[in-house]
Amino acid sequence: MEKFEEISQTEALSKYKHYKHAAHAMLAADDPGTTFGCKRNAVIMMQMRFDGCIGFVGGLIDPEDDNPVDGLNRECVEEIALDLDKVKFEKENFLLCHIVHDYKLVLHFYGKKIPLKLFYEIEKRAVLEAEEWGNETLGLIRVPLSLFEQGDINKRFKAFLKHNFAGNAKRQLLTGMKMINVVPEDVYNKLLQGVDI
Ligand code: GTP
Ligand code: MN
Ligand code: MN
Ligand code: MN
Ligand code: MN
Ligand code: MN
Repeated sequence: MEKFEEISQTEALSKYKHYKHAAHAMLAADDPGTTFGCKRNAVIMMQMRFDGCIGFVGGLIDPEDDNPVDGLNRECVEEIALDLDKVKFEKENFLLCHIVHDYKLVLHFYGKKIPLKLFYEIEKRAVLEAEEWGNETLGLIRVPLSLFEQGDINKRFKAFLKHNFAGNAKRQLLTGMKMINVVPEDVYNKLLQGVDI
């Protein structure tokens, strides 16, 4: 089993230049709606990948990319036809970096919150326009973040976490959603009850 170690991005980019680098990202939005009486709280975009695993949009940084964030934006155009005039990842959106020595791989992770209306537009455009739709990207998924008021309150989120995830995408999800305050802290704590990070 591969081991993901957290590393600073500066160290990863200087000391491990010879490794492969990939960058993935979380797009999230507040969602005021309810599902069967439960507040949805927020939406987070993930994808069903070509390999059957759930992951974030993004991919390997190519030689033509000047830096990880440029590579990330290019992959977002390929995988979901992201309109960079409307939503573009910036260096400031960096969240976490992990290294896997066994695979000589560095994984950069970014994230940001956007208005819900824009989130919906991105989803629709992906289906209609993305060059990788049906190939690398088999579908966009919204992470279920609603809670029951009693009983097994985080049943929906725990069921979601039982899927297979690419790389350390599950860890990126749990850590990233806290870092960019996808949901209020009390909701986050309830969602994570009984879940190991
Ligand atoms: P091509 O466009 O065919 O070059 O693929 P890609 O560049 O889109 O690469 P991909 O998204 O598959 O990512 C490359 C590497 O990152 C693979 O080793 C994956 O296992 C890993 N990976 C994929 N998705 C995620 C993710 O969401 N999080 C993390 N941490 N790793 C991921
Ligand atoms: Mn129905
Ligand atoms: Mn790709
Ligand atoms: Mn990819
Ligand atoms: Mn690629
Ligand atoms: Mn590709």
